[in-house]
Amino acid sequence: MSSEKRRLIAGNWKMNGSLQEANEFMDAFGGNPAPDLVEVALMPPFTLLHPMSDRLASMGVVLGAQNVYNEDKGAFTGSICPMMLRDANCHYVIIGHSERRSIIGESNAKIRSKMNASWLHGLEPILCIGETLEQREKGITNSVLAEQLSILKGAPKEMPLTVAYEPVWAIGTGVTASAEQVTETHAFVHEELTRLGHDCRVLYGGSVNPGNAEELMSCPGVEGALVGGASLKADSFMEIVKATVKVVS
Ligand code: PGA
Repeated sequence: MSSEKRRLIAGNWKMNGSLQEANEFMDAFGGNPAPDLVEVALMPPFTLLHPMSDRLASMGVVLGAQNVYNEDKGAFTGSICPMMLRDANCHYVIIGHSERRSIIGESNAKIRSKMNASWLHGLEPILCIGETLEQREKGITNSVLAEQLSILKGAPKEMPLTVAYEPVWAIGTGVTASAEQVTETHAFVHEELTRLGHDCRVLYGGSVNPGNAEELMSCPGVEGALVGGASLKADSFMEIVKATVKVVS
C-alpha cells in the first residue's frame, strides 16, 4: 500500500458556482496551508476554469476539470477537449464520475477513451469508481469495482493516475461509508490496482465533511478525498484540508 504518497484533497463543485461565488470563495480560502504534506485541487465548472486559474495557482491550489471529451477537436458541439483544459492550466480531470455514468450513461469504453485522450495531452485523470447500494447489499461490491478498474488493462503504467473510490450511496446523501467499510474496500482497490500494475493514490469520496474528515483520512489505504458539497464553502473545504494535514503530520 502507498501510505507515503502525498495526500490529495480535491473539491468537485459539480454544476455549481457563479463568477461572484468563485471570487468570494477565493477571497475566503486563503491558500493551501501545508503544500508539502497535502495537495489541494479544485474542479469548478468549465466556465470558471479560466477566471479562477491564475488566482488558484498563486494560492497553491491545483486546477482540474469535471469532464473531458475523447477527441482532439472538431465538430463535437458542446464538448471540451483535453487541449482546452491544458490551455486553462488544468492538471486534473475527473473521469467516470457516478453522476455521469448513471445520468448520462457513460460506459466503461467511453471512460477509457477519455482517459487515453487525457493522457495524450498530459492531464492526470481522477478515475471514479463505486458501487450502488443495491450492489453492496447483494455482496457484489468487489466485482463491480474490479470491472470498473478493468479498463486500466493495458494502460501505460507510467501515465499519471489517481483513483477515487466513491460508493454511490454515499454521494450527496450525508451518509458516509464506515471506517471499516472504507478500509476494507480501499485494501481491495489497492490490491486490484497492483494486479493491474498501477501504484497510484486512491481517494475516498462520498459526503466527506469537516466532522468526518479526520476519521476517513486516517483509514489505511486512503490517500485523500474527493469532496463535493463541502467544497463549495471555503471554510468547510479548509477544515477538511486541515484535518488531513493533522492526520499526516
Ligand atoms: P459529496 O460528493 O461530497 O457531495 O457527497 C462527492 C462527489 O460526488 O465527488
